[in-house]
Amino acid sequence: MEIKADIKDNSLILLKQGAEARVFESAFVGRRSIVKERFSKKYRHPTLDSKLTLKRLNAEARCMTKARRLGVTTPLLYSVDHVLHTLTFEFVEGPSVKDVFLEFGSHGVVEERLNDIALQIGDAIGKLHDGGLIHGDLTTSNMLLRSGTNQLVLIDFGLSFTSTLPEDKAVDLYVLERALISMHSSCGNVMDRILASYRKSSKQWSSTFNKLAEVRQRGRKRTMVG
Ligand SMILES: Nc1ncnc2c1ncn2[C@@H]1O[C@H](COP(=O)(O)OP(=O)(O)O)[C@@H](O)[C@H]1O
Ligand SMILES: [Mg+2]
Repeated sequence: MEIKADIKDNSLILLKQGAEARVFESAFVGRRSIVKERFSKKYRHPTLDSKLTLKRLNAEARCMTKARRLGVTTPLLYSVDHVLHTLTFEFVEGPSVKDVFLEFGSHGVVEERLNDIALQIGDAIGKLHDGGLIHGDLTTSNMLLRSGTNQLVLIDFGLSFTSTLPEDKAVDLYVLERALISMHSSCGNVMDRILASYRKSSKQWSSTFNKLAEVRQRGRKRTMVG
């Protein structure tokens, strides 16, 4: 359902209402754009809350810019508004990896396309990690494929942080692995293809893969206990 609202002179169409942010479609100097508004949490102290919201807003903008510097395609950042707590991005035209993978589930996998997407995902994550950036929310809804070129665009750096620890990189990959297993089982060994590409892209793949094995082990134990 689309909810229309008018804020200032720009028409905003609500696309997603999350726990920490609302995402709207809008226009920025005549260009189709995305406005992400972080809102306050009522249970937190107002001054503290405003500080935290601003901190996350800045961190998201900074991490996205850093990703781009590392050679990973992200939407262009058009503006940061510290009063309204909003980030405005370029609107990326095209489906999410989630939509494409789900379609493979219902219409059969197009091997060539799946390979190309897996290659791009592994390459992008390898670049982020070698640059010391952890995405923090690697799910297939946070990956878009630009129409026409099929170029992978990473979005949603709201949980991103900088770290060079193999453990943090491994957990980043593990989150993606779990998401693929639970939602895209019809895509077969897509995670293996992603990891093969990651291995080519990241110089530090070996220490990350060792940690990933440990993280999986912990995950399995937890499942058995729980
Ligand atoms: N730059 C963009 N271009 C097109 N769609 C976008 C863009 N940014 C976000 N979206 C859409 O809005 C949704 C929510 O945005 P996201 O940044 O992932 O917020 P959240 O933190 O709430 O998940 C995305 O899953 C995607 O469908
Ligand atoms: Mg998201």
